[in-house]
Amino acid sequence: MTPLWWQRGVIYQIYPRSFQDSNGDGIGDLNGIAQRLDHLVDLGVDAIWVSPIYPSPMKDFGYDVADYCGVDARFGTLADLDALIAAAHEYRLKVLLDLVPNHSSDQHPWFIESRSSRDNPKRDWYLWRDPGPEGGPPNNWISDFGGSAWEWDEATGQYYYHAFLKEQPDLNWRNPELREAIYAAMRFWFDRGIDGFRIDVLWHMVKHADFPDNPPNPAYTPAMGEMHRVLQLHSTDQPEVHGIAAEMRAVADAYPERVLIGEIYLPVERLMHYYGGEAPEMHLPFNFQLIDAPWEARSLAKLIADYEAALPPGGWPNWVLGNHDRPRVAAKLGEAQARVAAMLLLTVRGTPTIYYGDEIGLADVLIPPEMVQDPRELREPGLGLNRDPVRTPMPWDDRAHAGFSTNTPWLPLNDDWGDRNVAGQSGDPHSMLSLYRALLKVRRDHPALEVGDFLPVECEGDVLAYERRHGKERLLVALNLGAAEQQLLLSDDCGACQPLLSTIGTHDRTLGRGVKLAPNEGLILKLE
Ligand code: NOJ
Repeated sequence: MTPLWWQRGVIYQIYPRSFQDSNGDGIGDLNGIAQRLDHLVDLGVDAIWVSPIYPSPMKDFGYDVADYCGVDARFGTLADLDALIAAAHEYRLKVLLDLVPNHSSDQHPWFIESRSSRDNPKRDWYLWRDPGPEGGPPNNWISDFGGSAWEWDEATGQYYYHAFLKEQPDLNWRNPELREAIYAAMRFWFDRGIDGFRIDVLWHMVKHADFPDNPPNPAYTPAMGEMHRVLQLHSTDQPEVHGIAAEMRAVADAYPERVLIGEIYLPVERLMHYYGGEAPEMHLPFNFQLIDAPWEARSLAKLIADYEAALPPGGWPNWVLGNHDRPRVAAKLGEAQARVAAMLLLTVRGTPTIYYGDEIGLADVLIPPEMVQDPRELREPGLGLNRDPVRTPMPWDDRAHAGFSTNTPWLPLNDDWGDRNVAGQSGDPHSMLSLYRALLKVRRDHPALEVGDFLPVECEGDVLAYERRHGKERLLVALNLGAAEQQLLLSDDCGACQPLLSTIGTHDRTLGRGVKLAPNEGLILKLE
């Protein structure tokens, strides 16, 4: 079967507040993204996923949606979005939006109606419950942002459920009208030419019908954040979610070559169910394992092998190093290993998603307490849960405000923006940006990397190695995850093998059956 664009392609996540400001308000916008499409073309990605741009009170920076079919004035207009879609398509870039179906904003007209009275027709579009037997919240469920997940509504004398902020009431996916309303919003965007959706917290969407207490988490410590006090046994990953995921897929499948990517943080064996059973569900249930994995060769080799083995027949793999919720890869690993990680991301089998800024090696930016914006941090300060450090403005050049804006940006720039910016790295063949561009080019030029088979190569020490094969094409990827030189012994004589790319520049140390890897070197070698 001919691979589809989202199987061959590379996705790039844009956090729209922080990509490019075009109107001088210090906040990125849609016209800003349109102005920067050439960066994405030069980089060589195939699709952009734009985090939410819908009208929103911005309590959770757009993940609190007040209208599923509009554009927030801070980001522009519907016409701007149409223009962005058209411009991206001119450049052969696909455009994915973020769909946030688990919850709306409390300012969405649906919720305003729902809370207006107990017999309002939209009452059942949200999750309303009477107090528990002893008074107080209906059960012990905890918001992912800390505190009870139930909010008392004085006017109608019931609680409503919110897995996140109280300004983000959960929608009731057992209600068929609500389901249809969200499917209509999906069609609205598909009809405008959107190529797919990343679906927010898909595994949260259905809750146990009886709302039983969640069991306590025996491993809980306060440093983990309050949400971990209980295990989300009854509040997430319920069997009925799969029927809904399948319905969403049917909506997408009525259009040619659309893609659905599910945000799902679950162990691999649970994650795999989201590819679908009898009916297909997500094309790509996001695989976040690399974000938390110890950076250690043997355990990464096992992680990849286990993931490959767990994939259902026909299930296409995918990999992620970071996103707008998690620490940046360069902060976790340092620059040298972030380069190796980039090679892993772009050569392991499956669709990679790159988080904006990772291509220039942005690390987490220190946010002074008085500048904190993230509601997660404001609710549970000091636990290291702040997401602002990974949402800072993209530094484009060495002009004022790094070319991001003509005004003070909504979050501070990286301290080193004068050196670490797109323009500066463009001209430097040794920069992270040049490495990303080269990796994406090697990938595009070699079907073995885009769609080939994956064969692990046994090795020792800090080396992680695998072969990618397609027809006669055979590529070896050897990654030194440590800071000491390593030797990899191959079964073939590799004296004449051609090094295609090294994360450290020139590689000239392949001799016969031995590949010598310099400290922190990742290498792609053409075997045949
Ligand atoms: C997951 C999103 O990625 C995150 O940014 C958001 O806060 C929650 N879902 C709630 O929508």
